[in-house]
Amino acid sequence: MRRVIETTVGDRAPDAYRQETASAAVSALPAAEPACFSKRFSEEWVFRSTLWNSLRAWSAARRSKWLRVPQVLKLDARELRIDFEYLSGWDQVRAVIRDRTFKGLSGSELHRMFWTIGAALEELHRHTRRIHGDFDFDNVLVKPGADRAAFVDFTPPVYAHFREYNQADPYRDLATFLLGVCAKYPPHLIHLALRPRVRQLGRAFLEGYFRHARTAYDGRRLERAMARLLNETYLGESFAGRYLRRSRLFRIDDLAPGA
Ligand SMILES: Nc1ncnc2c1ncn2[C@@H]1O[C@H](COP(=O)(O)OP(=O)(O)OP(=O)(O)O)[C@@H](O)[C@H]1O
Ligand SMILES: [Mg+2]
Repeated sequence: MRRVIETTVGDRAPDAYRQETASAAVSALPAAEPACFSKRFSEEWVFRSTLWNSLRAWSAARRSKWLRVPQVLKLDARELRIDFEYLSGWDQVRAVIRDRTFKGLSGSELHRMFWTIGAALEELHRHTRRIHGDFDFDNVLVKPGADRAAFVDFTPPVYAHFREYNQADPYRDLATFLLGVCAKYPPHLIHLALRPRVRQLGRAFLEGYFRHARTAYDGRRLERAMARLLNETYLGESFAGRYLRRSRLFRIDDLAPGA
């Protein structure tokens, strides 16, 4: 039996918004292959914005070596619904990074995975001249052995009160991802952030992004982008954001490509 996975995005408070994940819906379904990943919106501008961003990113992926983006299969403009190609067997980066053994992947497999995410992000930026805008580790999907990284969720994030949010500094995407990987751990898992491998994977990500131009990397710009995220978004209110801001979790001097 073919099933549809559905998630809804609306105009809600940030907490409620974040709690709304499709993963709950996924786990409630029997293990049949879903036909598509369906997303419903309660505001027309969010629906339109998601559609254009997704089409732009998909077209970029077709010209890319490292990037994969699910295809838009069907639209329902009356119901404000978009059906996406379902990416079967792909997992969120969160699942890998929050796992004690990194899902049992070897050092070189992990390095390749994070390098590829960086390379794919550079391709997205170069081909679309836009940023993702919500480049969180939940919106980056990986599959061991795959030669690409998949990006999903081109819906404007809650902080996006203006339509040009995705024309901001590309370092915003770099900073969002690195904060997730290096610092966004709940208190009971904070020891996982201290694993040396985490820093190596942060650096692999930047090496992938700056693979053609290592000298273009600007650490001060990355620091500024991180500070802005911590000041402007819920990340600063998180456990790590509030209590550990001066700790090594937020240092980036050891992340510079080639350091
Ligand atoms: N095309 C797809 N195929 C398979 N899984 C997907 C697809 N798109 C999204 N997902 C999974 O569902 C999750 C939620 O989807 P998405 O991020 O688009 O919605 P969301 O409502 O913004 O969720 P959240 O607010 O939690 O990020 C993603 O993090 C990803 O794990
Ligand atoms: Mg998401």
